[in-house]
Amino acid sequence: MTPAAWKITPLGAALGARVEGVDLRSLSDEAWEAVDVLFSEYLVLAFPDQSLTPAQHVAIGEHFGDPFLHPFLTPIPEHPAILEVLKEEHEIGTFGGEHWHCDISFQSPPAAVSLLLGHEIPPIGGDTLFANQFSAYETLSPQLQDLLEGLQAEHCYPNMAAAPTTAARHPLVRVHPVSGRKAIFVNSAFVSKIDGLADDESDMLLAMLEKHQTRTEFIIRVGWSPGQVLIWDNRATLHYAMNDYPGHRRRLQRVTAMERP
Ligand code: SIN
Repeated sequence: MTPAAWKITPLGAALGARVEGVDLRSLSDEAWEAVDVLFSEYLVLAFPDQSLTPAQHVAIGEHFGDPFLHPFLTPIPEHPAILEVLKEEHEIGTFGGEHWHCDISFQSPPAAVSLLLGHEIPPIGGDTLFANQFSAYETLSPQLQDLLEGLQAEHCYPNMAAAPTTAARHPLVRVHPVSGRKAIFVNSAFVSKIDGLADDESDMLLAMLEKHQTRTEFIIRVGWSPGQVLIWDNRATLHYAMNDYPGHRRRLQRVTAMERP
């Protein structure tokens, strides 16, 4: 049961909730169970006003899976499992590029959950968008669902011909290990080709899918404040970081918890 002191506010119709009155550093087993229930329902949870050390940030991530040590990106000096999501005032591009994606889908098993902690937030802009991939799957026609269920794709990082890369194959439709619901599991950041299709066919299907996966009714938009922890389910959502704050610094830190086999 959700503790009475917590205030739960949906972030939109599609998914997401803000949870106030929680200190993530000191949750009882019952409180963690309540977080799990909310997470399963909303897929994205925002916890404002948290004060976490790097070790506490990683420890909270461990509730959801094994912390990922990125093979190519340099972590913060204080902890090998924390990446800085940073855009300096003078920089043009964002940390992950302007793509709809889920994190670390190029591993097997893939990322379960990401936990992003806000540090320096621009005065306006810099929101993160999320799209519900259960809804994306469930609103396809049964014929298209059947077609997708027979397909798989390679997820690759970096998504280019250059070596070294790391890659994993996943079905285009994955069954969520907790809820048993099906979600579309493909993203243009890490996937460039669907197995077994001609290049043109694959390009067309990926483009059509991305348009569907990011339909406005599947989306919420989450604003940031320093100390906010945003936790999202990479198996059932895509996200997109807005790049609309030129001349301002945006700095957050991310832990990614990998699905346990
Ligand atoms: C990410 O892609 O994990 C970062 C999202 C963001 O910068 O809002």
